[in-house]
Amino acid sequence: MALLFVFVLLRLQPSQALSVCSECDAHTSKVLNTSVEFNKIFQKAFPTDYKFSLSEMRPGICEATIAFIAGKFYLHNRSRTGFNSNRDEKNTLYLRHKEFFESLRDQIRQTERYIGSSVPNFLFNLETQDNPSCKYPPEEKRTSLFRVKGVVHHSFCSPQLCDGIFLLPMSYNQNIRASLTTRNLDSKAAEIPWSTRRKKLFWRGSNKGKMSEYQFFNWKFSEMPRQRAIRLLRKRKDSDVKFGFVPWSEFAQHRYILSLAGNTYSSLFKHALRSGSCILRQEERMFEWFEPFLAEWKHYIPVRWDLSDLLDKLDWAKTNDKEAKRISENARKLGIHLLSTKMLSCYTYCGINYFSNLTDHTLDMDFIQNEFHLVRKVCSSKRSKRNDCFDLV
Ligand SMILES: *[C@@H]1O[C@H](CO)[C@@H](O)[C@H](O)[C@H]1NC(C)=O
Ligand SMILES: *[C@@H]1O[C@H](CO)[C@@H](O)[C@H](O)[C@H]1NC(C)=O
Ligand SMILES: *[C@@H]1O[C@H](CO)[C@@H](O)[C@H](O)[C@H]1NC(C)=O
Repeated sequence: MALLFVFVLLRLQPSQALSVCSECDAHTSKVLNTSVEFNKIFQKAFPTDYKFSLSEMRPGICEATIAFIAGKFYLHNRSRTGFNSNRDEKNTLYLRHKEFFESLRDQIRQTERYIGSSVPNFLFNLETQDNPSCKYPPEEKRTSLFRVKGVVHHSFCSPQLCDGIFLLPMSYNQNIRASLTTRNLDSKAAEIPWSTRRKKLFWRGSNKGKMSEYQFFNWKFSEMPRQRAIRLLRKRKDSDVKFGFVPWSEFAQHRYILSLAGNTYSSLFKHALRSGSCILRQEERMFEWFEPFLAEWKHYIPVRWDLSDLLDKLDWAKTNDKEAKRISENARKLGIHLLSTKMLSCYTYCGINYFSNLTDHTLDMDFIQNEFHLVRKVCSSKRSKRNDCFDLV
C-alpha cells in the first residue's frame, strides 16, 4: 500500500517566525554552551538601520536581481545575465555558476521541510562569481563608496571589494545536502585516536588563487599562499604539505591539518573541523557563513595571513600536545553542530527572515508585475555551455 505524504507549508506570521528563531537561539546556545542570538549575528552584516530599495540594488550591476515570492523566483528584466533582448528567453536565467542557484533553491526547500514552514518573500542580488564584486562601470570600479545593496553570496570578502553581503550556506559543498553526504566520511576520520595520529602537519590541494585579487588583501609576495606554505615547510620532517589529492581519511592520520586560502576561503576547513585533527588556520580574507561561531585558540590555531608565524605555531602545537588535542575536540563538537541539518536550517530560515525585513518594499505580485519575469529555466552563461540548463518547476 502506498503512503502519500503531503507537506503543507504554513505561511507564518512574523511573531511565529520569531518563536522559531528563539527556539533556534536556545538550542544553539545550549549545544555550543555559549549565548547565541541569530539576529545579533545578522546585525553584524546589516545594522538595524540598514534598509534597501530596488533602486539601491541597481539591477544590471550584479548578475541577477531576483524576487522570491510565494516559493517562486522572478528575475528583474535589467539583470545582467538574463538575455531579455530575445523574447523567447525572458524566462531564462543565465548564470556564470548556475550550481550556486541550484544549491540555494535546494537549501530553501530543505530548510522549509525541516522547519515546517516557508521562508518569507525576499528580494536579493545574486552574484555567482567567487568574488562577489558585481560589475561596476569602469569609472566606479573599486573606488566607489556606493556599493550595490542586498547581495546574497556563498562567501564574504574584503570590505574593499564588497560590503553588506548576506551569507547563505548555498555553495554546493556547503548546504544541507552536501553536509549530509560528507558527514559519514568526516565522522569515520574522527574515529582515529589522537595518540595514533602522526605528529605532522598535513595538507594536500591544488594551486589556486589569483594574484590580481590578493593585492587587495595586502598580500605582498610573488608566490601565492599555498606555494609559500609548501616552500616554508619543504625541509621539515614534521610536515607533509604539497600539491595533490588524497582521500580525506589520509588527512585524519595526522594531528595537525593546515587550512590555506585558495581562490576564496579554504574549503577543507569545514571538513577539518569534524575530523578530530587540530587545525592550523591561515587567517581568512573570505569567510563562510559560520565564521561568527568560531573562536581562535578554541577551535583552531590562528596563523597570520602572511604565514610568518606558521613554523612557530606548528612548534607550539607539538610542545602543547594536550592543548592541541583539546582544540581538536572543541572543533569537532562545533563542526558537528554547525553542519547539522538543524543548524543549517535555523541559520537559513532566520537569516532570510532578517534579510527580507531589510527591503523597503512590500513584496507581492503587484510589486513584480512589470519589471520581473518568472524564472522557468536556469542555464550556464558560459558561451560554450549555454545549453547546460535545468528547469524550475
Ligand atoms: C560551559 O561554559 C562554562 C563557562 O562559560 C564552563 O564553566 C562550563 O564548564 C561549560 N560546560 C561544558 C559542558 O563544557
Ligand atoms: C523588522 O524591522 C523592524 C524595524 O526596521 C523591526 O522593528 C522588527 O523587529 C524587524 N523584524 C524582524 C523579524 O527582525
Ligand atoms: C523592463 O520592464 C519595464 C516595465 O515593463 C519596461 O518599461 C522596460 O523597458 C523593461 N526593460 C528592459 C531592459 O526590458
